[in-house]
Order: sequence, then structure tokens, then C-alpha cells
Amino acid sequence: MPPSAENVPHHVAIIMDGNGRWAKQRGLPRIEGHRRGVETVRTVTLAARDLGVRMLTLYAFSIENWKRPQDEVGALMSLLEYYLKKELDTFIRDRVRLRTIGRTEELPAGVQKILQTTIEATKHFTDYTLVLALNYGSRTEVVDAARAYAAAVAAGKEKLNDSSWATFSRYLYTADMPEPDLVIRTSGETRMSNFLLLQAAYSEFVFTPVLWPDFTKADLSAAIADYNRRERRFGQISEQLKPAAAK
Ligand code: FPP
Repeated sequence: MPPSAENVPHHVAIIMDGNGRWAKQRGLPRIEGHRRGVETVRTVTLAARDLGVRMLTLYAFSIENWKRPQDEVGALMSLLEYYLKKELDTFIRDRVRLRTIGRTEELPAGVQKILQTTIEATKHFTDYTLVLALNYGSRTEVVDAARAYAAAVAAGKEKLNDSSWATFSRYLYTADMPEPDLVIRTSGETRMSNFLLLQAAYSEFVFTPVLWPDFTKADLSAAIADYNRRERRFGQISEQLKPAAAK
């Protein structure tokens, strides 16, 4: 049974891992795994919305991914462009807002162009947002934010003495996004790999052995059910969170 809407995490973030292993297990080239991974992106984008999730962030390409063999990087960029071109009409039909986090200005021109078109065409949708982390890394994000913050201080727009998480976090790529409630990583790896390190400070984590190309709506539903069994305390104690303890 799907979880009831009130317990559904508002923002789910996923580290999509295992495309290469999925392909290897079948004696296929790694890019076949990525191709299948794109199919899962399609399925999970709609599944998350069906389940009541309002924002889905997918780690599609990390800063570190440039270090992969050049042909794999090229193939991933082509796949991304192909996917975005193919999905534009679907996003509009299904009222999916697209946005990105990461240094997208360093992506190939063709990818940047279709990203801009899609972001512009979907910016009025408010019910559901798909966030693609592209050329993203938390450490780079902090450096970019620190630079922008320092510039704002130098320009007199921020006061150094008033620095706080609330002011600094407005300079992160995620400034106007809620923090992820649930972070999922597929393929049995239990690392964060430089993904939303600051934003996930109070997130719940679900690690599943399922390889990304095999990940289904049922797996997402199971992760949400697992999330529902947890108690998020945000540094407080259990009794403080119970209605009886409320004023
Ligand atoms: C990890 O699998 C996955 C990636 C590096 C990128 C994820 C990309 C896609 C799902 C396709 C493109 C994305 C979109 C949004 C169109 P891996 O290659 O690290 O797997 P392995 O650890 O088994 O080698």
C-alpha cells in the first residue's frame, strides 16, 4: 500500500549508481547501462510524483565524473541532451518544472541550450520539480557560495558580523529549495560522494542494493515506507516531538 500523503517526504534526492555494473553483468558496454538508467530516470520522475513527492533531485553528473574515460563522458553528455530534447513535451504535458544545480555553464553548448529552453518553458509549474544535479559537487558549491558571499560583503550587501547559516545558505545553488528529507543511494554503495553534504545534514538515508537500471516505483515506495518508520529529531529528544509535549 502506498504511504499516506502526509508522511511522504517533500523532497527526495537520489544518488543513481550501478549503471556500469548492470551493463557488465550482461556483458554489455557501460553506456548501455546509462541508457537503461535514463529509462529509470523517466519512470522514477513520474513515480515520485504519483507517490506525492513534490521535489526530486537526481545526481546525474558530478564534478568528478569528468575524470571518466572521454568516450564515456561524451556518451553521457549525448544521452543527457537526447533525454532533455525528448522529455520537453512530456514535462510541459505533465507540469514538471525542471531546474538544475551545479556549474552548468561548463557543460557542452548543446546541453546548455536545451536546459535553458526546458527551464524557461516549465518555470511556471509549482506542483512538482525535478532538479538535475549536473557538474555538481558540494565542495565546489561551497567555494562558489563563499566567493559570492565575499563579493556581497565587499559590495556592502551583507554584513560580516551578521553571518549565519540563514544568510550564507542563500548563496548555495539550492538557495530557494527545501532541504532533502530523504536521500537514497542505489547499488549497495554507502557513500555520499560529494552530494548535498550541507543540505543533507538532517536527512534520512536509505541505501539499497538495487542497481539504478533495475530501480522501480516499488523500490521508491519501499524507501519511503522505511523513511516513515524513522523519527526525525533534528537534535531534540523524542518526547519534545510528541504532541503531548507541545504547548
Ligand atoms: C552511476 O553509475 C551513474 C552515473 C555516473 C550517472 C547517472 C546517469 C544517468 C542515469 C544517465 C543520464 C542522466 C540523465 C538525467 C539523463 P556508474 O556508471 O557509476 O555505475 P557503476 O558504479 O556500476 O560503474
